[in-house]
Amino acid sequence: MNSFEVHIPTRIYFGSDKDTAFFDRLKDYGTRVLLVIGGGSVKTTGYLNMVTKQLEKRGIEYFLFEGIEPNPHAATIDKAAAFGKENDVDFVLAFGGGSVMDASKAIAGLIHDNETEIWPFVLGEPKYKTLKGSLPVTTIPTTAATASEVTAHAVISNPAIKGKSPVSYPFLKPSASWLNPAFHTSLPPETTRDGASDILSHVFENYILGGNDSPLADRYSEGIMQTVLVTLPKVLQNPENEALRGQLLWASTMALNTMQIAGRVPTTFLLHNLEHALSGYSPNLAHGRGLAILYPAYFKWLVENDRCVDRLALLGEKLFDIKTDNRFETAAEFIAEFEEWLNENGLYERLSDQKIPADAFPEIADYALKVYGNGEKIDAAGPVTKPDIVEIFNLTEMQATEQTI
Ligand code: NZQ
Ligand code: ZN
Repeated sequence: MNSFEVHIPTRIYFGSDKDTAFFDRLKDYGTRVLLVIGGGSVKTTGYLNMVTKQLEKRGIEYFLFEGIEPNPHAATIDKAAAFGKENDVDFVLAFGGGSVMDASKAIAGLIHDNETEIWPFVLGEPKYKTLKGSLPVTTIPTTAATASEVTAHAVISNPAIKGKSPVSYPFLKPSASWLNPAFHTSLPPETTRDGASDILSHVFENYILGGNDSPLADRYSEGIMQTVLVTLPKVLQNPENEALRGQLLWASTMALNTMQIAGRVPTTFLLHNLEHALSGYSPNLAHGRGLAILYPAYFKWLVENDRCVDRLALLGEKLFDIKTDNRFETAAEFIAEFEEWLNENGLYERLSDQKIPADAFPEIADYALKVYGNGEKIDAAGPVTKPDIVEIFNLTEMQATEQTI
C-alpha cells in the first residue's frame, strides 16, 4: 500500500425521503442562499418548485440564478458571482448536473474572495491555486456522472479560447448533498449514457495506471464498474425506475471520493486530460461521451505499447470472466467485450461523429499538453507525447458507428 490522505467532509443525504433532514441542515449555513440551476430542466420537471417550497418553509431567502450551460462557461460564472454578491448571500445551493455543481463551487469561491473572474484561477492560468476560500457549497445532483457532489473540483470552460480546465481546492468540497434518485427519472437516454461513461472513467483511470499495490482499491473499483455495466442497460429500459436510478447515482458518488484510488500509486487522469481538451475545442461535446469515444482507442494504444497490459487483463478477468494463458490475449478480449458493451448501450462512436475533424487533432493535443503536461508530454505510466495523443485520436476513427440502440 502507498501512503494517502482521505478527506470526505460532505454530509450525504441519500433517498427521496431525506428532504426534511437536508433542508433542516441548510439552516446551519445561513438565511440567504444563491440557488443555481442550468438551462431549465428542473423547472419543466417541476422539481424546482419542490425545492423552493422547502427553502421558504424554513425562512431561507433564495436568489435564483438560471442559465448555467453544460460545460459551464467562465463568463456565466462571473455573472452569477456578481449576482450573488449583490444579494449578499451566505451560501450556494447547486441544483443540477455536474456543470451546475461545478459552476456553483467557482461562484462560491469568487464571492468569498471578492473576485470578479474565474478563468485566471484555473489550471494553466496565472492565479491557479491562489483562491483563499469559498462560501459553503451545498448540492442536489440531478445527473449520475461527475461526483461533483463530493469532489474538490470545478471544471470550467472558456469557449472564447477553446479552453477547459479545472480549479480544485479542499474547501470547494460541498458541505451537504442530497442525492434524490427521484430527480433522475427525467434524465434523457443520452445524458444517462454519458453519465454512466463518466462514472466508469473515474474508476478506470487509476485502476489502469496505478499499479497492483492496493487490492482493496481494485475490488472497490470493480464493484463500481460491475454496477454500472449491469445497471445502465436496465435504466435505459426502465428510465423511471427510481431504485435503478439510485444504483447509478450512488455508484457515481462512490467513484470519485478518493476511496477508489487509496493505496495505489497516484497518477494523472489522462483520459480526463484528453477529454477536457476535446470538449474545450468542441463545447457541445458531453464529457462522458468524449470519454466513451476515447476508451477503446486508448486501451488499444496501451496494449500496442505494452503499457499496463496486466491491469487491462485483470479487468477482463474480473468484469467479463475472461481466462486465457496470455495477458495480451486477455487484454484484447477485454477490449472487445467492452467495445460490445459500449455499442449495445449507444456509446460507441468516433470523434468525427461529434464533428471533431482529424485536422484539429494536433491543436487539441497541444492544448492538452500545455495545460495538463509540461508542453511536451503528460506522465501517465510513461510519457504520452503529441504523436501519441494524435495516434489515440486517430484510433477512435476505426470505431464502427452502427448503434444498436
Ligand atoms: O441545464 P439543464 O436544463 O439542467 O439540462 C441538463 C444539461 O442539458 C440536463 N439535465 C441534468 N439533469 C437533468 C437533465 N435533464 C433532465 N432531467 C434531469 N434530471 O443534462 C445536460 C447535461 O448536464 P451537465 O451538468 O452538463 O452534465 P454532467 O453532470 O455530465 O456534467 C458535466 C460537467 O462536469 C465536469 C465535466 O467536465 C463537465 O463540464 N466534470 C466535473 C467533475 C468534478 N467536479 O469533479 C469531474 C468530472 O470528471 C467532469 O470533468
Ligand atoms: Zn469525469
